[in-house]
Amino acid sequence: MTVHSIQAQLELPGLLPGSQLNDPHLTDDPAEYSAEESRSVLPYLMEKSPEFRDLSDMRQQGWEAPEPNQYFANVLRNADESDENTAAYFHKFMSTTAREFDKATNALKVQRVDSTPPAILDMCMTPGALLEIALKRNPGARALAFSLPVSCGGYKTSLASNLNTKRVFLDLTMLAADMGVDHIPEGHEDAENFLPQQLEEGQLFDLVICDGPVLRQHSSAPYGESQGARRVAITQLALGLQHLRPGGTIIVLLRRLETWNTVNLIWEFHKISSVRLFKPKSCYTKRSTFYMVATNVESQRPEAIEAVKLWKRIWRMATFGSDEEYGKVLLDEESSVETLLEDFGPELVNLGKAIWKTEADSLANVPSVKKPE
Ligand SMILES: C[S@@+](CC[C@H](N)C(=O)[O-])C[C@H]1O[C@@H](n2cnc3c(N)ncnc32)[C@H](O)[C@@H]1O
Repeated sequence: MTVHSIQAQLELPGLLPGSQLNDPHLTDDPAEYSAEESRSVLPYLMEKSPEFRDLSDMRQQGWEAPEPNQYFANVLRNADESDENTAAYFHKFMSTTAREFDKATNALKVQRVDSTPPAILDMCMTPGALLEIALKRNPGARALAFSLPVSCGGYKTSLASNLNTKRVFLDLTMLAADMGVDHIPEGHEDAENFLPQQLEEGQLFDLVICDGPVLRQHSSAPYGESQGARRVAITQLALGLQHLRPGGTIIVLLRRLETWNTVNLIWEFHKISSVRLFKPKSCYTKRSTFYMVATNVESQRPEAIEAVKLWKRIWRMATFGSDEEYGKVLLDEESSVETLLEDFGPELVNLGKAIWKTEADSLANVPSVKKPE
């Protein structure tokens, strides 16, 4: 796998207390759509995918609507708050999403290889909607579930207490030992906060759920906001893939399918697994969010092992390195757009069809976005 994979954007659900799950005002932040970042695969998609062309038109009109900046600022401010109203809304939001996800993909049902009870790892569990369904789908299953403590702005869990789950409340970005770092440089400002090993060597799970967004206020250790954001994503992917049983399933929440980073990540998983993409129709429709479901993952293949190593290296640089060192590791093993598109372009267009169409159809109902005549 290549370096860009880790930069794939993990999604932040838009939360407006009191709003409907399909609130027409929920859409992506235009400021996050950097043309620079996306440039490489865009021309190909514009030429090959009518669904993507439609969506691009819709987005363009939405972003050109009057006073978008204040509007988007409000969306993002609300998305970062975790008060009671937001928590109740989010719980409902996740329950609806999880039910639809389960029905459409059947990915929460573990494909058994032997008689041992299914094991599930949830990297960002709360409120717990996906895990609750996964545990019900797999009687006898046991789970290990990480989540941000409420005291750090995480959500309360709604998971029934009788379910066979070990809950561990921690900040994923602090999992230094699991990410291969035993010696914290002296004087590092988070020296007290880094955590000892949480996952045992060789501990494997049949199903791994990586549903963690980056809440802005948590993503920013003082030594680098963007690095902080990346560290949440990298930690989920690295530990998720490392601890996935060969043949297991990994579910990853992503966004912006058209960006190089996201495409590249999906391509890499495509090489070692069967990849499907799923975008719920009940929630998230006006945002670019979708789930990648990778089944039959050959997690012990050299490509997978190399990817985990590389992600850990990037985590180290993002956490302890200088900006230059971090930048340098990001340039390692860069794959070419041409190779990707040659190998994976038609499949990408095919995978993206339903994702882009759902978002475009949904944006067409936003008052400020008029369909072109
Ligand atoms: C989209 S929600 C997960 C929803 C959940 N999978 C469900 O089905 O209900 C993302 C979760 O990631 C958690 N999170 C965000 N940043 C985190 C971090 N640095 N460490 C651990 N958890 C984090 C949030 O607190 C939130 O609970």
